[in-house]
Amino acid sequence: MRFDPWNPDFVASPYTVYDELRREAPVSFFEPTGQWLIARHADVNALLRDRRLGRSYLHLATHEEFGREPEPDFQEPFWRVIRAGMLDVEPPVHTRLRRLVSKAFTPRMVESMRPRVRAIVEGLVDDFVEKGGGDLIAEVAEPLPVTVIAEMLGVPDADRHLLRPWSADICGMYELNPSQEAQHTAVTAAAEFSDYLKGLARARRAAPGEDLISALAQIEELTEDELVGTCVLLLNAGHEATVNVTGNGWWSLFRNPSELVRLRQDLSLLPTAVEELMRYDTPLQMFERWVLEDIEVGGVAIPKGVEIALLFGSANRDPEVFDRPDALDVGRADNPHISFGAGIHFCLGAPLARIELVESFGALLRRAPDIALVEEPEWNPGYIIRGLRSLDVSCE
Ligand code: HEM
Repeated sequence: MRFDPWNPDFVASPYTVYDELRREAPVSFFEPTGQWLIARHADVNALLRDRRLGRSYLHLATHEEFGREPEPDFQEPFWRVIRAGMLDVEPPVHTRLRRLVSKAFTPRMVESMRPRVRAIVEGLVDDFVEKGGGDLIAEVAEPLPVTVIAEMLGVPDADRHLLRPWSADICGMYELNPSQEAQHTAVTAAAEFSDYLKGLARARRAAPGEDLISALAQIEELTEDELVGTCVLLLNAGHEATVNVTGNGWWSLFRNPSELVRLRQDLSLLPTAVEELMRYDTPLQMFERWVLEDIEVGGVAIPKGVEIALLFGSANRDPEVFDRPDALDVGRADNPHISFGAGIHFCLGAPLARIELVESFGALLRRAPDIALVEEPEWNPGYIIRGLRSLDVSCE
């Protein structure tokens, strides 16, 4: 098999292809997307921190000046939302936007949310165990991070069911070479989500609550587009990957029963186990960067104006960095995985994600000691955002 992000067999198990890439072609050109694939941990880690690359080039040049086609007009509502959030801008705008929300996500602030996270987890896990199990993804993995981030922002209970479909539709645009249909679906979702958040911000400006949208709506230097872009980013990034770490993580534990037993017998391993599950089956397999100045990677010259694709899933299995990289080791102490990124865009929500994951794996291990897989799960078609369609388990 070769690197083929549209092939379900590759998506289900990309790791042997990554081994080959790291060994034989750690920096290679991938014709179908016109990107350079970067497979080794040292290169991925260094390039994430390298300011000669960017998530965008629009702070330096127009599309034409950078030698790229402008996006088709119909995509405007999508890019308006996405490019107003911190993830798709570079300094100085990035620095300003990140500073405005970073206080809400410091380890200390997030630690104060642990009791609430725990209460939400316990409610979900109790119901799940009581009825003997079901789809772990739909019933525990999804509702937990969606509820936490929606409460934090102040999205009313009655509207929360809208978030997951909007987010999934928007994320469709992040896959490689998205179809016309996926592009239109993403644009529609971005426009609807944006209108919804504008209405909510207006209401909170008039009658503020204790939530993050109320706080952001009071900040005068934040434009309406930036407010919407920030909220869309927080609501989407705030749950997409966490859902998949939970699903992929449980699937990894079921495939490594001795590690599942080891973890169940010693729950003090939960923090290292969560890091290891994020490494072992990386939920976000690839992140892209634009090359803003000519660079050289592993002896290969890469010119300004092209895009590189950093293979997180491959970096996380690199034997140069990880001892026995293909083994799941829930007690792995030295684990510099790259799943939260690195450099200025390092995941803002990492402390929150860690709390959610430790609490949810912990609650299921405690309350469902006999949790077992009912049938082998299937993967969603997405490669970049890689997760299971569903995960049917029983808790007798
Ligand atoms: C296990 C779950 C998560 C994983 C694996 C993850 C992963 C990542 C990664 C890799 C990036 C950097 C992308 C890049 O450099 O191109 C990122 C950025 C970001 N993440 Fe997360 N994330 C997770 C959970 C969360 C949560 C719960 C939040 C809640 C707010 C969040 C908010 C963000 C934000 C706002 C950014 C943009 C930061 C910036 O551009 O400065 N993430 N995340």
